[in-house]
Amino acid sequence: MQNLNQRSNQTELMDDATISFDEFHDCLIELECINTLTLAYRPTLHWLKRWVKTGEPLTILDVASGGGDMLRQIAKKWPARMTTGINLIGVDLNPWSKKSAEFLSASVAPFCAYETANIFEFNSEKPVDIVISSLFTHHLTNTQIVEFLRWMDRHARKGWFINDLHRHALPYYFIKAATAIFSRNRLIRNDAAVSVARSFSVADWQNLIYRAGLDGRVCIQWYFPFRLCLYCDKERGDKERDDKEWGDKKLNDKNAAIQSRWHHE
Ligand SMILES: C[S@@+](CC[C@H](N)C(=O)[O-])C[C@H]1O[C@@H](n2cnc3c(N)ncnc32)[C@H](O)[C@@H]1O
Repeated sequence: MQNLNQRSNQTELMDDATISFDEFHDCLIELECINTLTLAYRPTLHWLKRWVKTGEPLTILDVASGGGDMLRQIAKKWPARMTTGINLIGVDLNPWSKKSAEFLSASVAPFCAYETANIFEFNSEKPVDIVISSLFTHHLTNTQIVEFLRWMDRHARKGWFINDLHRHALPYYFIKAATAIFSRNRLIRNDAAVSVARSFSVADWQNLIYRAGLDGRVCIQWYFPFRLCLYCDKERGDKERDDKEWGDKKLNDKNAAIQSRWHHE
């Protein structure tokens, strides 16, 4: 039985730098399929709406962009905005990601720019308004996550959004069985369940936010099915923030109730 009481430190095959392009590329294609089936884009797109709708120029940086599917979803959702000042940039440690993302975006969103870098050493040429990431933070140690939270807070002028998994037995055993049956990719078959085991509870995030010195400024929200997201809106005024925190308190109470129900089932 997998111990899901705390974050696992099992390694993901995806983080092995010696993997071939073909295997990594196939993994990213399957990951896009899993992201689509598990409604993974919805929380990030929903949160981004408020800035995209203003019509102002916007530079969005997707950290650990993998095959670039999140940026393609943004381009697909707001096609008119792609010619009115939205810059989409993806950065990923693995050089195969850039190659794969450029190939997959060529016909649908050729304006997306992909770069290869370790995020902790990355300096964007353009000032970044929004930093987003999906399925990235669970790849990091707790110490690195604290560093990443501070990094985002320094670099994102308007706000940032983390989209990751909620550690729980239900998604763990479901994805383990589903990938064993349906996937032929070695990385997906190993990493999908390991990703859940490496992911987070609400208490984990509260602790990490506190360690980063960001408590009181970050909201945690649970999304169906088993996504745990964090966001920080830097531009909100005090009054708006007070109102929002009241709203988020209600939301967090609701999320806590949902999660405690899952834990007891
Ligand atoms: C599970 S994939 C996520 C891909 C995509 N964002 C998604 O949601 O499907 C994790 C990605 O994180 C990248 N990564 C890991 N450590 C990184 C780092 N320090 N800086 C930038 N990218 C990193 C890996 O190369 C990999 O492509």
